[in-house]
Amino acid sequence: MAQKTIDSVFEEIDSEKDIKILLNKIFKENKDFKYQSSMMTAAISIAMVGQFSWSNNNIKRDLMFCSFLHDMFLSNKDKILIQSEQQLNNSFLTDKESVLVREHAKMSFDFLERSDNIPQSTLKLVKHHHGAVSGIGFVQKDLSSAISEVEKLFIISESFSHQLLSSPKGKVNINRMAEKTESLYSDKVFQPYIEAFLKCFKS
Ligand SMILES: [Fe+2]
Repeated sequence: MAQKTIDSVFEEIDSEKDIKILLNKIFKENKDFKYQSSMMTAAISIAMVGQFSWSNNNIKRDLMFCSFLHDMFLSNKDKILIQSEQQLNNSFLTDKESVLVREHAKMSFDFLERSDNIPQSTLKLVKHHHGAVSGIGFVQKDLSSAISEVEKLFIISESFSHQLLSSPKGKVNINRMAEKTESLYSDKVFQPYIEAFLKCFKS
């Protein structure tokens, strides 16, 4: 997606103050899963980050760009939805596909790093978007504190985005979604972001 288009999507997302209206609109759009997932992750992460004192427009832009760039090497829904080593091991992917899923965050980082107009903060977010500092693999309990706050927020927003998109007809139980996210990301460092998501829906 070209920079100009990303900027216009960013303005659209940032100007809609009611997250429920925005997510409903994205859910009903007849686009492919990857596009919807990117839009929804961007919308949720930008709504969530506004609740934190460290938020600013540069961070919002990092979240926006990362939402559209982080899974650039994954082409289908089954691969995009994998968020843990356990889910990967339980999948029906071939060995080659499993390597791709396990390493896609680092691959995206390596590819985007060659471009000289992408900020380091965006690149870092892309590399860490599954919680692994190396960009290979997924979040591990003792490494959760090694990633930054905005990276934790992105991980949680994507988890909710995937659950929303996987829900039949968009009917969701927000508390049940939060429980599922808590079971995937049980380290307490993720808790403020799970709460921030719930707060978006209760306001
Ligand atoms: Fe990913």
